[in-house]
Amino acid sequence: MKIEGKEYRTIWSENNIVKIIDQTKLPHQFIIKDLQTVNDAMNAIKVMEVRGAPLIGATAAYGIVLAIIENNDQTFLKKSAENLISSRPTAINLKWAVDRMMNRLSGVNSDKILEIAFNEAKDICEEDIKFCENIGLNGLKIIEEIYNKKKDTVNILTHCNAGWLATINWGTATSPIYHAHKKGIPVHVWADETRPRNQGANLTSYELTEEGIKNTIIADNTGGILMQRGEVDMCIVGTDRTLANGDVCNKVGTYLKALAAHDNNIPFYVALPSSTIDWNIKDHKDIPIEERNSEELSHVEGLDEKGDIKKIQIYPKKSKAMNLAFDVTPAKYVTGLITEKGICEASEKGLKGLFK
Ligand code: MRU
Repeated sequence: MKIEGKEYRTIWSENNIVKIIDQTKLPHQFIIKDLQTVNDAMNAIKVMEVRGAPLIGATAAYGIVLAIIENNDQTFLKKSAENLISSRPTAINLKWAVDRMMNRLSGVNSDKILEIAFNEAKDICEEDIKFCENIGLNGLKIIEEIYNKKKDTVNILTHCNAGWLATINWGTATSPIYHAHKKGIPVHVWADETRPRNQGANLTSYELTEEGIKNTIIADNTGGILMQRGEVDMCIVGTDRTLANGDVCNKVGTYLKALAAHDNNIPFYVALPSSTIDWNIKDHKDIPIEERNSEELSHVEGLDEKGDIKKIQIYPKKSKAMNLAFDVTPAKYVTGLITEKGICEASEKGLKGLFK
């Protein structure tokens, strides 16, 4: 998708160097960063220079490539794979991508391993783009249906950033929106600010604006009253881990939006590529929920009057703060799952119908 009119992907490689857009600096600065070692890749995931479930998976895949460039040795590779998987705990895509790389490389001769690893990492990216595009085409049908009834702007609420910046291109939750916009359907997005890291404001609103899509940032607690006032036609969010029973784990606050949508009879859709499905965990209480540094709550970053990025403390110095990064929305509150293969009920039957 575009930034200042120029097409970008979130990650790509040039001459054995991996390139990313440093998302910690958006929207104030657009910086392309080089990842040259597996440690660079791990760190980029940890500090969220790259974030969003599919993108951290792709970065970890390239992390494996960088590990091979650094030290083409099986013990180093295995240790690097473990470290990459543990760099963020909640999004299943991370483990999915590393496992896929390691399975592909198993038994490969050391003189061929780099080329094969590069190709596999590129395939992961190309596949994600295709899947996200299909999610868009499938989700477009829902937006079209609402538009055909309403004959007026379709108002869509989203939480966090499940946009192209969270994937390689298109996004998951935003892909149906981009497709609707391209088709000439008037859409407007309510972008939940998404405290504490403000991905909704800093990334979703930013990328939608760059693509010319009308959007409004709202404080996280505003969705409820907008729904009561009839100003939300549908919600679409992403997911970091979707259980086989249809429960979805996404950025903290998603659950509360689903409850409000349920109370107001508003369709609540979750968009995902199949790399986000966890077929193993049966009970959502077993999902590892990331707890991040409380400084993300107590401090905020923004531009000062000189235009420099500055971090300031906003909480009382002696107060304790807690920063859980994800929550779980039970399947019963999810109207449907929008996947690359079609839309299904949020249930084991629904998912298994699409993915054997
Ligand atoms: O903490 P983040 O910014 O990595 O969280 C991202 C989200 O919660 C997204 O909604 C999710 O990864 C889906 S991405 C298409």
